[in-house]
Amino acid sequence: MCPPIYYGIEYEINPWMDRTRVVDTRLAAQQWDTLHALILDCGAQIELTDPVEGLPDMVFTANAALIYRSIAILSQFRHEQRKGEEKHWRSELADRQFRIEWPAENIAFEGAGDALFCGESLYAGYRIRSDAAGHQGIAEAMGISVIPLELVDDYFYHLDTCFCPLSPTEAIYYPGAFDEYGRTVLRQSIPELIEVELDEARRFACNAVVIHKNIITSTGCPRLHARLRDRGWSPREADLGEFIKAGGSAKCLTLRLDGEDGAVWNEPS
Ligand code: ARG
Repeated sequence: MCPPIYYGIEYEINPWMDRTRVVDTRLAAQQWDTLHALILDCGAQIELTDPVEGLPDMVFTANAALIYRSIAILSQFRHEQRKGEEKHWRSELADRQFRIEWPAENIAFEGAGDALFCGESLYAGYRIRSDAAGHQGIAEAMGISVIPLELVDDYFYHLDTCFCPLSPTEAIYYPGAFDEYGRTVLRQSIPELIEVELDEARRFACNAVVIHKNIITSTGCPRLHARLRDRGWSPREADLGEFIKAGGSAKCLTLRLDGEDGAVWNEPS
């Protein structure tokens, strides 16, 4: 995670961002601290990265890279405004002993924001922030199967805003963010899909941090939480309103260095 010291809305690169809606920095810091405490309470360990002045979106560490075993495939941001982060993520992840890889040149790729493992496959969101060709190349290089999903609604511009694997066979999704083909592929490949409705999707219900049986989302997703509880999960919530102003929530504020719970390669043997 990256503390929100320099966080703010300094540019607009997604429909949520509006420079006139100023971030309450004190409140953002409190909300981030609450999420941090909640993650610790779920039994995870947290490593911090140093924030950099002038890179307000660095708090959204999900976009640093895609982590696959001991490999970090670094992001190449779509927008100029976030490109300055790339060299920091490179040294940060190299220092943490990851083998560093890159997508092909001139390909946009926004890390775990657009690439999530569920079971054996890597689900890859493309068009708005990441190019489909990048995911194909990564999957070939790593020898993993990739399922490309076109994102069709600008409010759900990263895959992690509309899709969240919970286990190798179970995921949350917001159907309206995908085209008919994408919805069909998801229904065919994931045995248990939990559907979120628009109002909760807009509260970033799908942008969840999954730690064992705990699922942390922003506040405002009571129907999803009830369904998760019925299925034996422990949903938890944190008010992350100041981060939703930039188009991000719980999951975006984290990068799993040890791999997501939904990935088969990460299952304890
Ligand atoms: N303002 C950031 C951007 O538009 C938010 C990133 C949210 N991250 C995520 N993984 N969905 O790039």
